[in-house]
Amino acid sequence: MNKTKIKAFVFDAYGTLFDVHSVVSECANLFPGQGEAFSRLWRTKQLEYTWLRSLMGKYVSFQQVTEEALKFTCRSFNIPCDPEIRHRLMNAYLHLDTYPDVTPALKALSGIPLAILSNGSPGMLDAVVANADLASTFRHVISVDEVKIFKPDPRVYDLAPRKLGVDKSEIGFVSSNCWDAVGAKAFGFSTFWINRAGAAMDEMGIAPNAVLGKLTELKDLVTG
Ligand code: 2OP
Repeated sequence: MNKTKIKAFVFDAYGTLFDVHSVVSECANLFPGQGEAFSRLWRTKQLEYTWLRSLMGKYVSFQQVTEEALKFTCRSFNIPCDPEIRHRLMNAYLHLDTYPDVTPALKALSGIPLAILSNGSPGMLDAVVANADLASTFRHVISVDEVKIFKPDPRVYDLAPRKLGVDKSEIGFVSSNCWDAVGAKAFGFSTFWINRAGAAMDEMGIAPNAVLGKLTELKDLVTG
C-alpha cells in the first residue's frame, strides 16, 4: 500500500466505531438469558432490511429500519414489543459504546481529514457521535439519507469524495463490515477491513486493500 495515497479517512459507524452489541446489557435486563442472541438477530435483520429495501426501491430511514428489525426480533423471541421496550432499546442505540481502539486511533490520525459515512439517519448519527464526545473529530458526518438508498450502493460511497473534495482513489475507507469494505473497494476507495473478531472474508472476487486487527494500525498507513 502506497502510504502517500491516503488524503482522508472515511469510517463506517455501526460495528466499526460504535459497538452495536453494547445494547446487549439493556436487552439482557429486559430479556434475561437472551440478551446476546436477541442483539445478534436484531443487527442481522437490520442489515437484511437495508439490502431488501434498496433492492425494492423502498427506502425508509435507518431509524425506521432499526425499529422494524426490533419488532421482528421481539416477534421471533415471542416477546411483547410494547412502546416502552421499543423506546428503551431504540434509545440505547443513541448511546452505543465505542470500541477501545477508537479514541487512540482517531487521535493518531487527527492530522488528516476524517469523516463518517453511514447508513444511520442524521438524527441517530448526530446523537451517537455527540454522546461519544466525537463531534469535533470528524469534518463530515455523512448519512445515506442524502441519496435515499443504503450501502453498498455506489451512490452512497460517492457522497464522500464530493463532500471532502478528495479523489476517491485517495480516500481510505474503513469498515468492520466486510461487505461494506468490499462495496467501497468496488466503488474505487482504498479499503481497510477491521477484522477484530477474526471472521472469514467474504468471497466476492473483490478484496479490501488490507485487513487490520485494530483501528490503531491505520496510522502506519499514512506518512508521518
Ligand atoms: C453503517 O453504515 C453498515 O451499519 C453500518 O454504519
